[in-house]
Amino acid sequence: MKERDELLKRKVQSNVEVIPPEELRKLDEIIDRYHGKPGYLIPALKDAQELFGYLPQEVQSRVAKGLNISPSHVYGVVTFYSFFTIAPRGRHTIRLCLGTACYVKGSREMLDNIVRDIGLNVGETSQDGRFTLEAVRCLGACGLAPVMMVGNDTHGNIDPKDTIKILEAYE
Ligand code: FES
Repeated sequence: MKERDELLKRKVQSNVEVIPPEELRKLDEIIDRYHGKPGYLIPALKDAQELFGYLPQEVQSRVAKGLNISPSHVYGVVTFYSFFTIAPRGRHTIRLCLGTACYVKGSREMLDNIVRDIGLNVGETSQDGRFTLEAVRCLGACGLAPVMMVGNDTHGNIDPKDTIKILEAYE
């Protein structure tokens, strides 16, 4: 896990896809497992994402070649399903609700606090690989507005001033 975090940190900081040979060998093992089995593209991509944390171009191309599938088809699948991601993600995904109920109760201020104190904008991953920030339209918990999810944890009735304190609990 620590190695993966280090790798993620380097990728986020350098913004360059550098995949060490030992990780490519593990990817080839995944490809070998599914080679020649029609319909196994999605499981292969899931395993690859588990390994790298995301699916950069280099990984997509290798999977396409290894499974004899066109790169455009692989790219189409990766971008169609929301559980695949082509950008590095942090260890914790913050899903901040900017829907009407949350917005009027302070989620805009929460966002401002995150941008100011963590330096993280919507759609970005923090430099330390800790957080990825997503804005959503509704989390289906409007009665708890303003609402923010961190990973699988739902935080509701948040005082915007407490936003960073909540996030500090996540390493
Ligand atoms: S608007 Fe935020 S949970 Fe519904």
